[in-house]
Amino acid sequence: MNANEQKEKLAQENLKIADHISHIKHRIVVFSGKGGVGKTMVSVNLSYALHAHGYKTGILDADITGPNVPKMTGITGDVHTLENKIIPQESKGVKIISMANLLPAGEAIIWRGPMRSKMINQFLNDVKWDNLDFLVADLPPGTGDESLTIAQSMKPDMAIIVTTPQEVSLIDSARAISMAKKMEIPHIALIENMSGLICPECGHRIDLFGSGGGEKQANELNVNFLGAIPINIDARIMADEGKPVVIENPKADISAIIFDIVGKIKTIFDEN
Ligand SMILES: Nc1ncnc2c1ncn2[C@@H]1O[C@H](COP(=O)(O)OP(=O)(O)O)[C@@H](O)[C@H]1O
Ligand SMILES: [Mg+2]
Repeated sequence: MNANEQKEKLAQENLKIADHISHIKHRIVVFSGKGGVGKTMVSVNLSYALHAHGYKTGILDADITGPNVPKMTGITGDVHTLENKIIPQESKGVKIISMANLLPAGEAIIWRGPMRSKMINQFLNDVKWDNLDFLVADLPPGTGDESLTIAQSMKPDMAIIVTTPQEVSLIDSARAISMAKKMEIPHIALIENMSGLICPECGHRIDLFGSGGGEKQANELNVNFLGAIPINIDARIMADEGKPVVIENPKADISAIIFDIVGKIKTIFDEN
């Protein structure tokens, strides 16, 4: 196949995907420059908070080599197919598809970029998402192949970039914002995660990674600032047990902040 034929094939494939996901009203991608900043934590809890607001929501775990969504949502078991379509798994009303549930536990995926991108397109095209109000894609860190694939095929209408307040994370999140701008994603927003830790014993705030850098960056780069999420030890324990904090403890401070972020997302999409 020559380059032109390849381009044509890709365009055809993207058209097919666009048709298949046309029943999904809003498509959000969650990016970060750096790993370990809380993308999966944010993707999962935002999705459950959207569901709690009455929206039909799905999570696409686009982190093919480090798929953590099942661990944080507690879904297990095999994925089933029906009439050549993959049926997404469901946990407390949210539809989920992840590589983790297509592989034996602990098995490594050692695919190169093009294979990972192909899998993501399959998650878009071959999964029976049906009507959804929101599909949230949790991406691997950085600005690699998967991000480009998603931008071309999923046509997101919002990119959420997660950063910690640390300088090293902010430098990388600026790159992720720049990528989202180049992809012409209509709404770009930033969340500062791990923004301070309130000592559960004495209530004193410790700015482990600093604080405020996210909001400053959002203003400087002219993107929406959605909020600052603190480090919450209970939320981390719940995440390890597959229980999103917004469901387990909706009254917790961290949950209130996440629900507030959902409110801002609704305003941006004029969903109020
Ligand atoms: N605000 C937070 N409070 C406490 N723990 C958090 C918070 N955000 C993320 N974590 C924890 O930090 C670890 C890394 O987060 P994760 O969402 O897996 O990052 P990423 O997807 O960006 O690699 C996980 O164990 C997660 O539960
Ligand atoms: Mg992750």
